[in-house]
Amino acid sequence: MTAFRSIVSPDKHVTLTVDGKSVTAPRGQSLLAFLLAAGMPGAAADFHCAIGQCQRCLVRVDGKVRAACLTVPQGGETIDTGAPDGRSPAWI
Ligand code: FES
Repeated sequence: MTAFRSIVSPDKHVTLTVDGKSVTAPRGQSLLAFLLAAGMPGAAADFHCAIGQCQRCLVRVDGKVRAACLTVPQGGETIDTGAPDGRSPAWI
């Protein structure tokens, strides 16, 4: 059983870079949902609310700190999850 089910048409994707890797994500899906479904949550692994309140899913998007649950990639962004080893990133 998967935790998230995509409701986005599979032929509509955006390309972004996550922790140095080029990946494709369904257009319209939140960055948090994508990271979790892709098995690469980084700091967002500690998410709690998924509605922008707890600030436990912070990542850098093109160098700016953003809540992954409120971020919908448009394509071309560079994402730094900051904690590939599970530790909190330095900017928190
Ligand atoms: S999960 Fe709480 S702010 Fe994103």
